[in-house]
Amino acid sequence: MPIVDSPRAKEFVRLLRQRLSEQTVSHSIFAAALMASFADEAGITNDQAVTAGLLHDLYKDADDASALATAEKWGIVLTETQRSNPGLLHGALAAEECRRDLGITDPAVLEAIEWHTTGKPGLGPVGLALYLADFAEPSRRHPAAAEAREILRQEGYRKALLYASGKKLEHVNSKRDIDPTTLEFHRWLIEFLGSND
Ligand SMILES: [Fe+2]
Ligand SMILES: [Fe+2]
Repeated sequence: MPIVDSPRAKEFVRLLRQRLSEQTVSHSIFAAALMASFADEAGITNDQAVTAGLLHDLYKDADDASALATAEKWGIVLTETQRSNPGLLHGALAAEECRRDLGITDPAVLEAIEWHTTGKPGLGPVGLALYLADFAEPSRRHPAAAEAREILRQEGYRKALLYASGKKLEHVNSKRDIDPTTLEFHRWLIEFLGSND
């Protein structure tokens, strides 16, 4: 189902355009569209796909100081990793704004937005779908995004999700300030979905 069929899609896209760079707006629309395309297979509704996909990066372009100030104002408790790398907070901030100001009440959508950067053990179906769509949407330039979409087409959702999670872990392992949740999520996902062999 096209994303415009979701009742609040236009309103959300307007908000994105007021707040985010053109690149982040495109990324969010592509993520929503890709997520909606495999919503049935992921066991989620079209509205969940569109809402989570469009709004997950609402705080992506905030600078570190304002992200930290907003987190403090809203009483969000920071992990050590988030404190030293405030970019990791953008999911939690977006989820909180969705809940406070945009009237989003679906806990599965809020959870998906909050955890989209690292995933977490026990993440629900909307969160898993957003994790894959965020990684694989077609405006992503890294070759692994194209590969994940190819796996999605050829081998299905489960395999694509395992591939995306493994690739993300490889990427995160090459950086400083590794959030341990990414590794915990990957290990859980392998157990939950079965290994990729
Ligand atoms: Fe993000
Ligand atoms: Fe994103």
